[in-house]
Amino acid sequence: MKFFVDTADTAEIRELAEAGLLDGVTTNPSLIMKAGRPITDVIAEICDVVSGPVSAEVAATDYDTMLKEGRKLAEIADNVAIKVPLTLDGLKACRTFANEGRMVNVTLCFSANQALLAAKAGAAFISPFIGRLDDINLDGMELIEEIRIIYDNYPNFETEILAASVRTPNHVKQAAMIGADVVTVPPQVLRSLIKHPLTDKGLEAFLADWKKAGQSIL
Ligand code: G3P
Repeated sequence: MKFFVDTADTAEIRELAEAGLLDGVTTNPSLIMKAGRPITDVIAEICDVVSGPVSAEVAATDYDTMLKEGRKLAEIADNVAIKVPLTLDGLKACRTFANEGRMVNVTLCFSANQALLAAKAGAAFISPFIGRLDDINLDGMELIEEIRIIYDNYPNFETEILAASVRTPNHVKQAAMIGADVVTVPPQVLRSLIKHPLTDKGLEAFLADWKKAGQSIL
């Protein structure tokens, strides 16, 4: 499973990329707003650091403006994935971009049928939002399962399932067990995957014994 980080915080991205943990990055208008800098600058900086897909989302809702915005974002770097919302205009734009050989991430997916349509529109990625379904007492993980079954039924679909709106380490584990192709994770969740109290406790004990041993490896 590929790991993307869901942030526009370039300092975080640099650190996680240096640790070799990143296969890509996803951003959205809310994350760009938090970064407080022009989208073109932020995306260019991220693309300098990460060579995998970097999703940059259009803000327009009509097809013609989506095309203009998407093409402008795609000009920033070869690894930009144009992110479009799952609407009729978004799917139309997805098909046009895909025909032009551009990578598209179709976002705001909340049903298996929406995911089916995104695959038919030639999306490189479909982004089902797990956490937001859980928020309204539905089962986000069930959606990942359904999409996995549907995509596996049709091997000609090349769309990758990008599990998004991930809020907990358990979401990551379940998405991996189901076989999501990609998971995009906020930095704090990604960091929390590393931590285990028994790892900390065990390391503390080893270091104490090493001190008693009075040895040095170097
Ligand atoms: O990038 C889209 C998605 O991951 C948003 O997550 O937590 O705002 O629902 P969240």
